[in-house]
Amino acid sequence: MIPLLSFAFLGLAGLTQAHIAAWHKGMYCLNGTVPGFDNQNNNDAVNPVFKMPKSEWWMHHNNKCDEFPPAPGDFLELPAGGTFTVEFAGNRGQTTLSFGGKFTSEWPDGQQHPEDFSMPNNGCITSPNLHTTNQSDAAGTVFAISAISAAVTAENLAVFTALYHTPWKRIGTFQVPADLPPCPPGGCIAVFGWVPNGCGIPNMYMHPYRAKVTNSKSTKVVAPAKPPVWCEGTPSTCTKGAKQMVFWNQADGNNIVTTGYQADGSPKSPGYNMKLGFQNGAQNDIFL
Ligand SMILES: *[C@@H]1O[C@H](CO)[C@@H](O)[C@H](O)[C@H]1NC(C)=O
Ligand SMILES: *[C@@H]1O[C@H](CO)[C@@H](O)[C@H](O)[C@H]1NC(C)=O
Repeated sequence: MIPLLSFAFLGLAGLTQAHIAAWHKGMYCLNGTVPGFDNQNNNDAVNPVFKMPKSEWWMHHNNKCDEFPPAPGDFLELPAGGTFTVEFAGNRGQTTLSFGGKFTSEWPDGQQHPEDFSMPNNGCITSPNLHTTNQSDAAGTVFAISAISAAVTAENLAVFTALYHTPWKRIGTFQVPADLPPCPPGGCIAVFGWVPNGCGIPNMYMHPYRAKVTNSKSTKVVAPAKPPVWCEGTPSTCTKGAKQMVFWNQADGNNIVTTGYQADGSPKSPGYNMKLGFQNGAQNDIFL
């Protein structure tokens, strides 16, 4: 037992360049992408997508994550009007989902960092690979939901919650709109999204989960989702109501193309924040 854990720990120590995923037992490829093997050190879910065809980037198909659904009965549970929690980490080994949680800390890399974590000269934090210089500049992450689990499209996949200034620490707690209707039997598909604000290759993150909405008596219907548009500084021009996820900087299938610079002087980066009209918290305006 002890040699095995030491080996695992050494393995983790070498993963400084990993990116970040939102870990939960309801996610796809939690065990990795080797059939029949439960990889406690799995990091297949953390890899971003960049300049790929849609056939590759959609639902993290590029490394076959979408072909490894969660175990039967494992759902990302979304309590209507409540909250749900995921763990941001660069490797499953640094979450409570592996090794009994013994390699976790308050941070996504299992290490200790100061509360106001930053690098000298406002440099990018690379371990954990948060793609930001500090907490206030962290771009924000979202979850979207599609009421069906077959034939998910950009239009039937609406962002229902945003969490500003993440990923940052390991624990991320998202709000669920009170009016989110129940899923059909078998569940919905939920999807995690993140577009970092610079600090590395301008990529994006898209990762699927099997989800169900709990405690809901809502009969509302989520409206068809429209692409977000760049509206930094002019909120009246933002896309109103249900918005699609951000599909950016891929070889095809993009729903936003940017040129020029944003208010902070760096190249435009269409993150999940008010630059695209995403309010923090539950998106309560997504219903028909
Ligand atoms: C992942 O591994 C665990 C432990 O071996 C197993 O119980 C579970 O069913 C696996 N999940 C999937 C989706 O294969
Ligand atoms: C956070 O980072 C941004 C962008 O690099 C910088 O403008 C800002 O001053 C930093 N804030 C703090 C509190 O260091």
